[in-house]
Amino acid sequence: MMAYNSERDEEHKIFIELQNYLQDTSAPEHIVQLLDNYKKLILKGNYDFTSLIYTESIETEMSNGSAVITRQDDYCIEGKVNLSHQLIEGENLAALTYLNNEYRGEIDVICIDPPYNTGMSELIYSDHLLTCPGDINPHNIWLSFMKKRLDIAYELLSDSGVLFINIDEHEIANLLLLCNNIFGEANTDVLIWPKTDPLFDENRVEKPYDKIKITHEYVIVCFKNKLGTSLNKMKMPIWINEEYTEESKDMETILKGLGTTSSAKDELSELFGSRDTFSTPKPRKLIKELVRAASHSKSIVLDFFAGSGTTAVAVSDLNKEDGGERKCILVTNNENDICKTITFERLKFTKTKEDFKEGIEYYIVEIQPIHQDK
Ligand SMILES: C[S@@+](CC[C@H](N)C(=O)[O-])C[C@H]1O[C@@H](n2cnc3c(N)ncnc32)[C@H](O)[C@@H]1O
Repeated sequence: MMAYNSERDEEHKIFIELQNYLQDTSAPEHIVQLLDNYKKLILKGNYDFTSLIYTESIETEMSNGSAVITRQDDYCIEGKVNLSHQLIEGENLAALTYLNNEYRGEIDVICIDPPYNTGMSELIYSDHLLTCPGDINPHNIWLSFMKKRLDIAYELLSDSGVLFINIDEHEIANLLLLCNNIFGEANTDVLIWPKTDPLFDENRVEKPYDKIKITHEYVIVCFKNKLGTSLNKMKMPIWINEEYTEESKDMETILKGLGTTSSAKDELSELFGSRDTFSTPKPRKLIKELVRAASHSKSIVLDFFAGSGTTAVAVSDLNKEDGGERKCILVTNNENDICKTITFERLKFTKTKEDFKEGIEYYIVEIQPIHQDK
């Protein structure tokens, strides 16, 4: 059986005390490393995810080479200041491997919105990672896919780093166990995001549903070290006599009033002239408030399932509001030309339209074969 919360909290407290003690007395590097290994050990649950690891084609490629990124000068736009967001086109496992060499332990916020494994075929990106020869459990491939990426996300996060994962009812149960396994139960929380709201949904088209209308999704929050991390207050909308205003509030489990799927489509429609440009964007305000809560003014924010690029737009918006210099790294593949014609175009349009100060640097990640001597 797994150790339960109280036991784990106690172990975690002891770990933090030890860590503080060692930091005060400048512990030698190998002791800090040992301690980090110990921390991972005590925070892990007993669910065994190792048996469901499938080899992806990108891993086969990566076993014969290393991930490199190449700057695409034609898609780079200079900023008004010496700060640029990075957009990396390509397979995120390769990009994460590359980023882990450059930014290990330096990322303060990761916001991701992976494919939900719904099997829906009408989306612009593939959302059914379901099939594997001989496998009868439709969730295994998806979990295997997520585990490999979240293991690296854990390493990328700074000591006070926070990971936010959007997810719906298809994989919430599995993903939560996986997050407990990687981050520890004491470091994992669940929020609810109402994805419909009449206040935002004047253009919403009702989808068919099976007896129960689903009006919410989830955001799983994973802390590298919850005890040692404080969150900033969020600016939550309130309407007084139909007047919009905002109040600073601690994060609450229901993220109400931050926009909906329909309002996110309206945001894209303003730029691209169509609500159908991207099937499942997230509203900018939702991501902006999550980033506000977990970042400081110079944080690096990462989204490795970037889709239409909402996270970078949210980061620029927050920087513009509070004068911050947060840098955003986006990774997304180019299926259906999403990266070039939607992500990049959106960043470019919004930069001009809203006079964002950050530049944009566009890269492609590839596997460069290792040349062996004969
Ligand atoms: C749900 S969407 C993200 C939407 C985003 N939050 C937004 O507001 O637009 C997921 C995105 O991840 C991309 N994606 C899926 N698997 C990927 C992979 N292995 N590497 C890189 N990108 C991937 C998909 O093409 C899709 O654009």
